[in-house]
Amino acid sequence: MIRGFTGLPDQIVENVFLFIAAISVSILVLITFLMIYFTIRYRRNRNPEPQDIRGNLWLEILWTVIPTLLVLSMFYYGWTGFRTLKKIPEGAFKVKVTARSWSWLFEYENGVKAEELVIPVGKPIHLLLSSQDVIHSFYIPAFRVKQDAVPGMVTPLWFKAKEPGTYDVLCAEYCGQQHAYMLTRVRVISEDEFNQWYEGKGKELRAETSKGLPRGPQLLQEKGCLVCHSLDGTSRIGPTLKGLFGKTVIVLKDGKEQNVQADDAYLKRSLIEPNAEVVKGFPPIMPSQKSLSTDEEIDEIIRYMKELK
Ligand code: CUA
Repeated sequence: MIRGFTGLPDQIVENVFLFIAAISVSILVLITFLMIYFTIRYRRNRNPEPQDIRGNLWLEILWTVIPTLLVLSMFYYGWTGFRTLKKIPEGAFKVKVTARSWSWLFEYENGVKAEELVIPVGKPIHLLLSSQDVIHSFYIPAFRVKQDAVPGMVTPLWFKAKEPGTYDVLCAEYCGQQHAYMLTRVRVISEDEFNQWYEGKGKELRAETSKGLPRGPQLLQEKGCLVCHSLDGTSRIGPTLKGLFGKTVIVLKDGKEQNVQADDAYLKRSLIEPNAEVVKGFPPIMPSQKSLSTDEEIDEIIRYMKELK
């Protein structure tokens, strides 16, 4: 019995890729060679009278059976490889990945949230992908893994890093204006370093929660607000948050321009129903925070926005 390709996702993908590439190149060489050979061998001045050649049972059997076997072998290796890619090893380390326009959020089982994926070397990692808005695609070229993050469902993905280092993460599904900038990194560190980082971050988080420390900056980062809203006065996809509180802004409401005072109530409306009144000159694309943030988080964000003078 022929064995399918097994091993780590990156090895499987590489083996299948090389297998298919080797077959394709052999066929290319064979066909090119025969084409040139036949052109010379059966040229007109050697064969002035064309012959009508018909039927050769063995030839027909051969050129049916060989390509069929080749294509089936590609399917077989692709399929067994795919099954291994989809089979999450037991005890794999779980991390929740949330995609949103246009950033990634990683959540660990101890509640720690991070902007880049920090993982221990040599351990299988089980990612649970989902999206808050449109379809994104989580792609780590170095580990040969790519998987769609789809709103309303959780898709699994696993891989294992053999070497410590920093690897790029891309979004591989066109998801709007800032798609090309939806980048982050995987930081692979030794198991000891990782445990330290993980425990340390966990402690930090507990300390912050128990003390009720100001969490405004962190919330803006975690919720992905800063992808579109700057804190330094520059306009991005959305208006800057700097000095917004108390200002008069021109908004479009039901297609008409209106002047609105940016007070508490306005900020709250903008977070919960962002597209009811859109600041003039900006696209109506902000997701409502109604289901994405708790009431306390919204209050905390507003409290922080008032400080941004
Ligand atoms: Cu997210 Cu492209």
